[in-house]
Amino acid sequence: MSTVAAKKVKAKAKAAPKPAAAGAGAAPLTIALPRGRILEEALPLFKRAGFDLGAVEKTRAGRKLIIPIPEHDIRVLIVRDADVPAYVEHGAADLGIAGRDVLEEQGRDLYEPLDLRIGRCRLVVAEPEDRPVDEMARVHLRYATKFPELTRRHLQARGVVAEIIKLYGSIEISPLVGLADRIVDLVSSGETLRQHRLREVETIMQVSGRICVGRAAAKLRSDRIDELLARLRAAVEG
Ligand code: PRP
Repeated sequence: MSTVAAKKVKAKAKAAPKPAAAGAGAAPLTIALPRGRILEEALPLFKRAGFDLGAVEKTRAGRKLIIPIPEHDIRVLIVRDADVPAYVEHGAADLGIAGRDVLEEQGRDLYEPLDLRIGRCRLVVAEPEDRPVDEMARVHLRYATKFPELTRRHLQARGVVAEIIKLYGSIEISPLVGLADRIVDLVSSGETLRQHRLREVETIMQVSGRICVGRAAAKLRSDRIDELLARLRAAVEG
């Protein structure tokens, strides 16, 4: 979709908002949104694009995870960030927002037509300030991370042989308690690294939230998706 749809989207960028454009009986456009910082930054962005998803904010306290927004003929699913690509690839959601880290780690069959420039951070290699690793020393190195595939690719490109230990959170403590020599993790403010006396060794990639669209939805719901993309793109660039 990236080329064809991108052109279509550009052409429609100035079109007037069309509420509830789906035909009779069509399901609402279903959007998978991840909990956390991306969601917090996505809501004002959608608002600037003309989609008030205030209902998501209101129902969050109540733990409601499927939120209908009838005035825009939209339904929002609140899911874990790493689960967004699965919902979208399998067509349970027409589109979603996921970080570049999650999308590249999973490598699923999805279109990524728009970078929303939200949830910005970096994926970095870090190590204890007082125990720097000597990559040439040929010792058995262990890297702890939530991103084993991105870490594997990074190490392979550098010719480093190491064991990768998959964790699900609190990665920063792993080198402090003898689980790993280095970590590969996301850094935003840098405060978590500082608190644990870790120093950045190198940046693997810049990360931000992107729209991802499933292949079926890109074909079957292209009008709705193109309109949404055009308005979001204008909001991002404005
Ligand atoms: C993320 C990331 C770092 C932290 C970085 O963790 O994995 O731990 O944020 O932010 P900072 O540079 O602003 O300190 P998250 O809060 O998602 O929790 P987790 O450790 O359980 O993954």
